[in-house]
Amino acid sequence: MSLAIITGASSGIGREFAKRIKETGQADRFLLIARRREKLADLAAELGEGTEILAADLATPEGIKAVRTYLEENKPRVRYLINAAGYGVFGDYTQVSEKDTIGMIDLNVKALVLISHMVIPYMERGSNLLEVGSASVFTPLPGFNIYASGKAFVYHYSQALAYEVKEKGIAVTVFCPGWVRTDFFDRAENERSAGPRNKKPMLSVEYVVACAMRAMEKRKLLCTCNWYTKMQHLLSKIAPNPWLIRMWISMCKK
Ligand SMILES: NC(=O)c1ccc[n+]([C@@H]2O[C@H](COP(=O)([O-])OP(=O)(O)OC[C@H]3O[C@@H](n4cnc5c(N)ncnc54)[C@H](OP(=O)(O)O)[C@@H]3O)[C@@H](O)[C@H]2O)c1
Repeated sequence: MSLAIITGASSGIGREFAKRIKETGQADRFLLIARRREKLADLAAELGEGTEILAADLATPEGIKAVRTYLEENKPRVRYLINAAGYGVFGDYTQVSEKDTIGMIDLNVKALVLISHMVIPYMERGSNLLEVGSASVFTPLPGFNIYASGKAFVYHYSQALAYEVKEKGIAVTVFCPGWVRTDFFDRAENERSAGPRNKKPMLSVEYVVACAMRAMEKRKLLCTCNWYTKMQHLLSKIAPNPWLIRMWISMCKK
């Protein structure tokens, strides 16, 4: 019996991962984690037998403890860990509340690291650990600073972790898509800041997750999906940050 653990499974990218992993037949049990129990229950009904849900706020110590308790009690053999729970809020340091500033770090960085470390001892040889980063990992982004800086952490963390777990036969993939059509923007945009006006190309969740599934199958470390994000990655290697920041700011104004 092999388990797939998916955080952020109640919507968007996490939800799509659960469905695509089910299709592969590589996992016969699922643990779906997010705060909205009813959304998780809907997906569990769709996935069928062997699916469990854990309604937990991963930005809190209680939420993290609930995952730890599950692992200690069930001692599962984990085939996939998909760390997709995350959120962003547009705005500069005066516009994003202290709650969200810390909330983004707690969920996007702290919870992701804690869950990875907690689950790795249960992962079998040949398994996949996918950390959801973002195209924002490549550049410091004024007006999206905490989110992008947290995702840059995930990018570096994942690359180092990949070396640390290689001997165990675990493949780490850091998934860095550009804009994806999900509920992400309901939380990211607010009356104080709507973020960049130009959010093109906006990709479908089906497209980016299919791309990430191929990357996991090939045990690739970095998955960027489309030509636009590949170009951002390349530019970040050759262009100085002040130049990249000016490009981002002009994109925000367009
Ligand atoms: N959409 C994009 O353009 C884009 C691009 C690149 C990367 N990403 C990344 O992709 C990941 C998934 O985002 P998405 O686009 O699929 O957005 P989404 O549809 O809003 O999904 C976010 C998921 O995270 C869960 N979540 C949020 N806060 C949580 C908390 N405190 N505890 C537990 N779970 C929590 C949500 O579930 P509940 O609300 O039920 O808790 C939901 O399942 C995020 O890490 C995001 O940064 C998104």
